[in-house]
Amino acid sequence: MKSNDFDRIAFAYDRLTKLVFGNAIIHSQKFFLHRIPEGSNVLILGGGTGWILTELLKIKKNVNVCYIDASKNMLAMAKEKLIPREQIQFILGTENDIPSEHKFDCIITNFYFDLFTDESLPVALNKIKQALALNAKWIATDFVEIRWWQKLMLKAMHFFFKLMSNVESQKLPEWNKALQAIGGKLVDSRNFYRGFIQTSLFQF
Ligand SMILES: C[S@@+](CC[C@H](N)C(=O)[O-])C[C@H]1O[C@@H](n2cnc3c(N)ncnc32)[C@H](O)[C@@H]1O
Repeated sequence: MKSNDFDRIAFAYDRLTKLVFGNAIIHSQKFFLHRIPEGSNVLILGGGTGWILTELLKIKKNVNVCYIDASKNMLAMAKEKLIPREQIQFILGTENDIPSEHKFDCIITNFYFDLFTDESLPVALNKIKQALALNAKWIATDFVEIRWWQKLMLKAMHFFFKLMSNVESQKLPEWNKALQAIGGKLVDSRNFYRGFIQTSLFQF
């Protein structure tokens, strides 16, 4: 199996995460969507089954979205949720396939950084950074590990996703630091699920 392959788990992914984290997964990812200005070009990278796109379009009718995911099954589920329209572009791919003809006013990466290591994350971030428009925002939501039970849960999740999806990373990278290292200014953040999930809004 290739690494970070979510094809096998796509059909059950949302139900599984809801079972473990309840609504925290949804609330955390929706938290900063209202801060995206109307008319923005938005890049959603590793968006999964596409519910985030439906939520975004409910509150921001006039955004253009480029939706990239590496799993064909995840992408197919995302496409099924929407009537095809010009303002949304779906791409089966990774950070290597971001269209170079656009610059993005907002980038959304949710539960995407945890697939990388402290070594591979800066490489991916520097690629994505090339696609940022001037004064762009970046919304990132992911796990943060501080307490013993969070470390334990992360270990269990990495083990599970190693088996199911051959996830490359076995340790959470320091993603807040990595985003600041490429020039992101943390302007706001909020924690969910007793501090285990953090959504952060960065300004570039
Ligand atoms: C952990 S899931 C999170 C999905 C979604 N963001 C959510 O929170 O419900 C990671 C997603 O990223 C996709 N993915 C993995 N590696 C990727 C990469 N390098 N570029 C784009 N998508 C990737 C997977 O196919 C999967 O849909």
